[in-house]
Amino acid sequence: IKKIGVLTSGGDAPGMNAAIRGVVRAALSEGLEVYGVYDGYLGLYEDRIEKMDRRSVSDVINRGGTFLGSARFPQFKDEAVRQKAIENLNKHGIEALVVIGGDGSYMGAKCLTEMGYPCIGLPGTIDNDVPGTDYTIGYLTALNCVISAIDRLRDTSSSHNRISVIEVMGRYCGDLTMAAAIAGGAEYAIVPEKPYDESQLVEDVVKGIENGKKHSIIVVTEHITDVDHLSKKIEARTGRETRATVLGHVQRGGAPTAFDRVLASRMGVYAVDLLIKGHGGRCVGIVSGELVHHDIIDAIENKRRVFDEELYLTAAKLF
Ligand code: F6P
Repeated sequence: IKKIGVLTSGGDAPGMNAAIRGVVRAALSEGLEVYGVYDGYLGLYEDRIEKMDRRSVSDVINRGGTFLGSARFPQFKDEAVRQKAIENLNKHGIEALVVIGGDGSYMGAKCLTEMGYPCIGLPGTIDNDVPGTDYTIGYLTALNCVISAIDRLRDTSSSHNRISVIEVMGRYCGDLTMAAAIAGGAEYAIVPEKPYDESQLVEDVVKGIENGKKHSIIVVTEHITDVDHLSKKIEARTGRETRATVLGHVQRGGAPTAFDRVLASRMGVYAVDLLIKGHGGRCVGIVSGELVHHDIIDAIENKRRVFDEELYLTAAKLF
C-alpha cells in the first residue's frame, strides 16, 4: 500500500484532530502518502481531497473539533454517490480510507468496504455508542464538560432550593448521562436503555422532598422527553421551582483531555499499522485497555453496545 486517505464524519468530537494527526504522522513515517478529505463523505463526493505532510497536522492535537471539517451527508446511502466517491479516491490513487466518526460514519465505511474499497473505522463521537469499543474518542472529554456543567448548576440550584433538570446528549445511548449523574452527584438519571415512567419520577422527587431534600438534580438523555414539560410537571406537583437546562452543543466542544488525545493517537497509529499489514474493512476499538480490531461489516450487523448494568446498579445505590 502506498497512498491512504483520512476523513472525519458525523458529529465532531474532541480528539478527532489527534486521531487525524496519528494517521498522518504514522503513515508518513512508514513511507506512505496520506491525503486528507474535507467535510467527510460530502468532500469525498465533491473530490475535496488534499495531500498532507507533517506540518498539516502541527498545532492540532490540543484543539477540539476537526480541522478537516465534518458533515452529515445522508445522500451517501445512495450507491451511485458512493461509486462517485470511490472514483475520486481511485483518481488520486488512494488505496484505503480511514474514517473517524460514529455509527452513521461506520455505516458509510461498511458500504464502501462491501463495494470492494477497504476502510478502517475509528470510533469518534461523544456518544460512546459505537460497538466493539469500551470508549469512543471524545466521550470522556464530553463527560468532563457535562460534569462541570452539573457542578455549576448545583451551585445555583442549591442556593435557591430549586430542582434542576439537565438534558445531556448521547443520541440513543445513556453512557454520558449515567456517568455524569454519578460523578455529578445527581439524584436521578433517565436513560434510553431503561423504561421511563414520568409519574413515577415525579412521585420519587416528591418523596425526596418529604425526606428532607433541599434540591435535586435530574439528568436526562436527549430524545426521551421534553425537559421543559417535565420541569413544569415537577414544579406543579412539588411546588418547588424547577428549571430545565439543555446543555446542547457546548458538550461537543473544547480541548480534548489527555485520555482522548492518547487514545486518538494510539488508534490513528494502529489504523495505519492494520493497513500496512493488509487488513481492510476493520473497525478499531479499545477493550480492557487493549487496542482491538473487528470486521466492520460484522460489527455493524451483529455487535451491539452493551449497556453498563453495573454502573446503573451503582447509581441506584447512590441516588
Ligand atoms: O452524535 C453526536 C451528537 O452530538 C449527538 O449526541 C446528538 O444527538 C447529535 O450529534 C446532534 O447532531 P447535530 O450536531 O447534527 O445537531
